[in-house]
Amino acid sequence: MAIETIKWENGKVKLIDQTKLPLSLEYIICSDVKTLWQAIKMLKVRGAPAIGIAAAFGVVLGIRNSKAKTFTQFEKDLSRVIKYLASSRPTAVNLFWALERMKKVALSHSSHSISRIKKLLYQESVKILSEDKNICRAMGHYGAGLIKDNDRVLTICNAGALATGDFGTALGVFYQAKTEGKKFKVYSSETRPLLQGARLTTWELLQEGIDVTLICDNMAASLMEKGLIGKVFVGADRIAANGDTANKIGTYSLAVLAHYHKIPFYVVAPKSSFDLKIKSGRDIPIEERSEDEVVEIYGKRIAPIGVKVYNPAFDVTPHGLISSIITEKGVVKPVYKTNIRKMLGA
Ligand code: MRU
Repeated sequence: MAIETIKWENGKVKLIDQTKLPLSLEYIICSDVKTLWQAIKMLKVRGAPAIGIAAAFGVVLGIRNSKAKTFTQFEKDLSRVIKYLASSRPTAVNLFWALERMKKVALSHSSHSISRIKKLLYQESVKILSEDKNICRAMGHYGAGLIKDNDRVLTICNAGALATGDFGTALGVFYQAKTEGKKFKVYSSETRPLLQGARLTTWELLQEGIDVTLICDNMAASLMEKGLIGKVFVGADRIAANGDTANKIGTYSLAVLAHYHKIPFYVVAPKSSFDLKIKSGRDIPIEERSEDEVVEIYGKRIAPIGVKVYNPAFDVTPHGLISSIITEKGVVKPVYKTNIRKMLGA
């Protein structure tokens, strides 16, 4: 996998600027936490696992200049940085999971010197990135078993290398199936308003030599009715205890369509995307974004001045519409609370 979305290099965070893709491949270098916060907010780095990794690196950037002499002072600085990073985006739980993990490292080493704690925090952020590589491979392994020769599969948004520290969640399944020699076709739904499917998923699948066809979001029903889609694979931003899954806006409509056409609908997500404290999808916070994203495309106005706009970035697919959830621990099927807890070892 040639795409390296996020890395720590020479004391800075190097990110692919995903807002520039596919027209140009550019990088941004974050040497301070503010630049990193903006990168997350503006979707220069995006996708639930990648946001988590970025946030962990953000903690390192944010506390490295702390002048704290005592742990109490350091904890104050750390909490401020964590609170700031947590305010960047609300839906992907991986962000909060990574911040919590970083906080725990500091708290469990409170008797160590401040410079030692800073070093441990850096090591933890690097670990979060390297663990994601193995996690993606494990999900790819379990998911590829669901792909058969001549399958035609549909995906939405971007749940690939650009969204993780390795080859992705839903797209990782495709990469692994290709490695296993399977022949299949992928349809990528364009994913309005920010076109992650059209811009990012097609870009990375083409680079990896996967047969990909771009469709507009409103074409999915027609393709399903014609028998052109056999399976749907999507990622997740937050999965509640009962399996209800928040993912990019438009995912729920695909799940309803898949159900109507009796097409299996698979969610591929790591353990860090589960939020077992939340009972059902009703309690998942859904990000609402700027109206500019809807009334403009590439900065060009496409709707009349003065029109009202509603722009929720995610929707929730009820667990009853999900055939199974593929995790790094195995496949949860059928999707309900006890099965999820058992699989995650919770
Ligand atoms: O707004 P985005 O682009 O961050 O939304 C991303 C998604 O909805 C992805 O499908 C999800 O994070 C899974 S990524 C492996």
